[in-house]
Amino acid sequence: RCAKADSQRKPAKEWTLMDNASNLLTSLLNGGSMGSMPIAEGAVSDLFGKPLFFALYDWFLEHGPVYKLAFGPKAFVVVSDPIVARHILKENAFGYDKGVLADILEPIMGKGLIPADLETWKVRRRAIVPGFHTAYLEAMVQVFDNCAACTTEKLEKLLSIAEDNNMSHIELDMESEFSNLALDIIGLSVFNYDFGSVTKESPVIQAVYGTLSEAEHRSTFYIPYWKFPLARLLVPRQRKFQADLKVINDCLDGLISRARETRQEEDVEVLQQRDLSKTEDSSLLRFLVDMRGEDASTKQLRDDLMTMLIAGHETTAAVLTWAAFMLAQNPSMISKVQAEIDSVLEGRRPRLEDLKKLQFLRLCVAESLRLYPQPPLLIRRSLKPDTLPGGHKGDPAGYSIPKGVDLFISLYNLHRSPDFWEEPEKFNPERFLTPKASDGITGWAGFDPTKGQGALYPNEVMSDFSFLPFGGGPRKCVGDQFAFMESTIGLCMLLQKFDLELRGSPEEVEVVTGATIHTKAGLWCRLRRRQSCTLSIES
Ligand code: HEM
Repeated sequence: RCAKADSQRKPAKEWTLMDNASNLLTSLLNGGSMGSMPIAEGAVSDLFGKPLFFALYDWFLEHGPVYKLAFGPKAFVVVSDPIVARHILKENAFGYDKGVLADILEPIMGKGLIPADLETWKVRRRAIVPGFHTAYLEAMVQVFDNCAACTTEKLEKLLSIAEDNNMSHIELDMESEFSNLALDIIGLSVFNYDFGSVTKESPVIQAVYGTLSEAEHRSTFYIPYWKFPLARLLVPRQRKFQADLKVINDCLDGLISRARETRQEEDVEVLQQRDLSKTEDSSLLRFLVDMRGEDASTKQLRDDLMTMLIAGHETTAAVLTWAAFMLAQNPSMISKVQAEIDSVLEGRRPRLEDLKKLQFLRLCVAESLRLYPQPPLLIRRSLKPDTLPGGHKGDPAGYSIPKGVDLFISLYNLHRSPDFWEEPEKFNPERFLTPKASDGITGWAGFDPTKGQGALYPNEVMSDFSFLPFGGGPRKCVGDQFAFMESTIGLCMLLQKFDLELRGSPEEVEVVTGATIHTKAGLWCRLRRRQSCTLSIES
């Protein structure tokens, strides 16, 4: 399957005990070596001026789909092969934990799902997943609609002011608009809190952005200096971080105790059948507090909420940003999306059943997630020795992995692999409708939303793990359908009313990365009231 990548591999080098100090002891203890795994020796200068995942892509093309990256004393295995990814994420999921990611996030998310130890994770995952039931998702469409309407109203007001001054358009940073929109949505849907960030500033909003920025800073910082005993007192950045955390924690504690005071205990099945259109609070917190037999502590609930706040906010904002970035370069695609929206909605707001008909728009969201996966890398650490499958021709026996090895599964590489995608760099939303070629190498599994595959959006199962924007296996994203629908509705309501183009050239939009891929200085766009749509939906 990966013949091309195999032929491009450099002659393999041994990962010997002397290779790096950090894995020396582990290798000795476990008797493991990583066989003939190719080694990319990164110079720190390789990383200057470009995000890590770009460099990992270049090395993938050079060394093949499984290679070791050595940076001085640090070493990682970089995986860009779907069969190996499936092994790590699904078949041997509990042979790995989140490693360095959990180290970074634990001070913020505590025992929330992402950094939690296995025992806690099992209990909390079982409690949280039923909360994303069908009626909840249906009710959330109303939340997405209302929040997106706030954004479009704000933009319309700004446009009216511009038009009064004889200007036909406004220029604004769409990344920050999407960030506010996603924050308002996650606040209402997860804990029934109205941040109102589209229209106002508040200390809680400032604290959330401060905390997100610290999480990002930590994910790119080489030495975990914040673990030093006095860092939180002495380093101004850490003092601010502690203060921000306190603001959010106090806010969440208040919401949790209010929800507890009004608890109405019910079995899960009863909760899932509640008519949420008639309740004032349809949030996930309400569900978790009302669930019979659910006795999580306030601290645990707070960790759960904080985790979903962070996991669900930046990711969706980034999907909207990159979808807008790609569409803004393709006026004919914008017209096509608008024709679809007009024909399905006839000027009204979208409802759940409309999503089924907005196929091209849904595929635009999926294609944006292919090109810009959020996060671009999944992080794992082996908990015991393992043998990776020889998922490709080059190494039929697979590589042995000692305990304690850090791995990056590069979604960015998988989603742009020339071995699995025709013209991988091209934004082509309809690629998902093309059946896989007979050689099984190029093309797509043939996603057909009309043939009852049970999903509106393509996923990792249909693609044999070559497209996994929400991960896969037991630790797959709990909010995948929520996020897909949220992004589709956000884009739908924007493009229903406005035309969008980039202010400058695409190259001027610099990419930076922390946990997600975002821009260095904003996604500056020109926004106009829509011109009449001339293309038919088929064109
Ligand atoms: C996990 C992506 C939105 C909550 C994940 C993972 C990915 C992902 C790739 C797997 C991480 C791993 O295996 O290491 C995304 C994207 C989103 C999104 C691209 C938006 C487009 C959301 C939303 C929520 C959410 C809206 C909640 C409301 C979570 C949680 C986990 C997770 C709790 C951890 C699951 C576990 O470990 O059991 N997400 N996510 N995500 N996501 Fe999302």
